[in-house]
Amino acid sequence: MTERNVNGIPMLGLGTFGRTGPEGLDALLAGLEIGYRHIDTAQSYGTEENVGAAVRRSGLPRGDIFITTKIADTRLAKPEALESVERSLETLGVDAVDLLLIHWPSKNDAVAFQDYMLALAEAKERGFTRLIGVSNFPIALLQRSEDLLGKGTLSTNQVELHPYLQAPRLTAYARQIGLPLTAYRPLAHARVGADATLQRIAAAHGVTPAAVTLAFLMAEGHIVIPASSNRGRLEENFAARTVTLSAQDMEAIRALDNGTRLVDPEKAPAWDD
Ligand SMILES: NC(=O)c1ccc[n+]([C@@H]2O[C@H](COP(=O)([O-])OP(=O)(O)OC[C@H]3O[C@@H](n4cnc5c(N)ncnc54)[C@H](OP(=O)(O)O)[C@@H]3O)[C@@H](O)[C@H]2O)c1
Repeated sequence: MTERNVNGIPMLGLGTFGRTGPEGLDALLAGLEIGYRHIDTAQSYGTEENVGAAVRRSGLPRGDIFITTKIADTRLAKPEALESVERSLETLGVDAVDLLLIHWPSKNDAVAFQDYMLALAEAKERGFTRLIGVSNFPIALLQRSEDLLGKGTLSTNQVELHPYLQAPRLTAYARQIGLPLTAYRPLAHARVGADATLQRIAAAHGVTPAAVTLAFLMAEGHIVIPASSNRGRLEENFAARTVTLSAQDMEAIRALDNGTRLVDPEKAPAWDD
């Protein structure tokens, strides 16, 4: 598996949702020691401070670690969006992040689409971030993004993806326009561990169902950002980089898709799959 995609985004990253406080910091430090070089945070997670602290404590050069943060859906109005990014940079203690995302689109355009998308583009122009992207965007909003900002401006759409939600329509569209997807909740919040098909394939490869799941998603071209506070599980997940699945394995895991969506808050847009 290639370690980074065409935009230099490490294919296997570390999620931080819920990893606050000293335990969260320990998980981040363990992740960096194990070799993770891509960390996913967000204004709404309360983990930006821990991410900055872990990066500094690790002693690794800033340029070695890819940091993503996300503008909260409560801060989408343009001046506030840009101010919120400046606050994120202060909290993280960095000059710029590597990737900045719109966390959720504004439901029913309560904040005008072009306001927050142009704020995102301006954040890049002002040097607050190297790359920009979106999260939880269905096809219709990806099309509007392309119309507004031009082709190839976005570096990812971060969405829920795992064996039980493979989102065929969104995935096909993203492939067609050359947009990499980032799989959040890639382990279906640990449900993959109990899956008989994944257990069988994992046993044949001498790894865990979680590692097989992450290897599958990466083989499909998706970036993955699993989270764990446990060192052993962080290691298990990192081992996914060395797993090569057969065509039969891939087909068996593709057949697990049943459209199960785990993250579907009231503010969610109309999904494609
Ligand atoms: N953009 C968005 O709207 C959005 C939404 C949700 C998530 N995200 C991002 O995606 C990241 C990952 O999603 P997620 O944290 O919701 O779910 P996930 O990565 O699918 O699952 C995390 C859960 O699985 C457990 N786990 C991790 N590795 C395991 C393993 N090898 N074996 C068994 N259990 C394991 C963890 O528990 P332990 O800690 O006990 O190991 C944790 O409870 C988040 O942290 C966040 O950064 C983004």
